[in-house]
Amino acid sequence: MSLPKQVRLVEVGPRDGLQNEAGELIPTATKIELINRLGNAGVGYIEAASFVSPKWVPQMGDAAEVLAGIDRLPGVTYAALTPNLKGLEGALAAGIEEVAVFTAVSESFTQKNINCSVAESLERFDPLLERAHAEGLRVRGYVSTTLGCPYEGEIAPAAVARVADTLYQMGCFEISLGDTIGVGTPLKAKKMLEAVAGKVPIEHLAAHFHDTYGQALANLLAVLQEGLAIIDASVAGLGGCPYAKGASGNVASEDVVYMLHGMGVETGIDLDRLIDAGRYISTALGRANGSKVALACG
Ligand code: HMG
Ligand code: MG
Repeated sequence: MSLPKQVRLVEVGPRDGLQNEAGELIPTATKIELINRLGNAGVGYIEAASFVSPKWVPQMGDAAEVLAGIDRLPGVTYAALTPNLKGLEGALAAGIEEVAVFTAVSESFTQKNINCSVAESLERFDPLLERAHAEGLRVRGYVSTTLGCPYEGEIAPAAVARVADTLYQMGCFEISLGDTIGVGTPLKAKKMLEAVAGKVPIEHLAAHFHDTYGQALANLLAVLQEGLAIIDASVAGLGGCPYAKGASGNVASEDVVYMLHGMGVETGIDLDRLIDAGRYISTALGRANGSKVALACG
């Protein structure tokens, strides 16, 4: 089996995970502690917050305070989601190092998530990319619903490739392919990746798989075998998406790291410390830990 020697883990728990917590607002101090623990576990890339409308996603309303409070560890990139120029300005003021824009293959999902069409979202990103690049920031691009849409069902791999290629041509340095509602299965994931990798070099592609149907690790193995080496994951399997009915958390970071280390693939992450970070946030939120590895190591 051919696998990459090294995988870069993009920890999205503080953003993708926490954005979806129902009920009371999570204290800023709890988010800061989580991010610091992740950094101390050796995670090199942390999506720490989201500069979106607090009316749409209340849990991300304290993005500036979170970024002001964290320890900026050397060697760790702290990133944030920015849907438009207003979000980018907020991120710049907070001293962010990298931002991400997000759209989808499916029109219905895009309307529900960011209140515009796919084409309009791409138009919005143009000035954002220009401004970010002028400030020396790299911009990541997310494509949601790559393996299925909660409103439109099946998604054609060629359609995923078109949107991913457009973001790449516009200047996004990395394209993260989201199985937003976790419906994919390994052969579908492989075919989708093959279609996208026909347009965008595979070293610029990341897998962002939610684990709603318990398929995420199998899907990850399928794309790793194709040569993909960047994986988005969420500590303790936190999260979901407020505009994707039925979406559960991302694949748990602990489970991904355990699988990779077990196959001799390096991540630079200390699994015990990562488990500790997952336990901390699960206890703080009063929710069950979504990492099987964390439960097994209990
Ligand atoms: P809109 O209502 O169309 O925006 O929302 P608007 O431009 O008409 O502005 C309306 C109000 O929002 C105005 O305030 C703006 O100032 C304000 P008002 O005058 O009413 O007081 N506003 C903002 N405030 C703060 N920060 C901003 C901002 N922009 C406008 N950046 C908008 C459009 C994109 C803003 C909205 O739809 C939004 O914020 N959506 C966020 C949705 C979201 O965060 N979803 C979750 C992330 S995506 C995801 O999870 C998928 C992913 O994980 C991959 C996968 O799993 O597939 C990435
Ligand atoms: Mg997601």
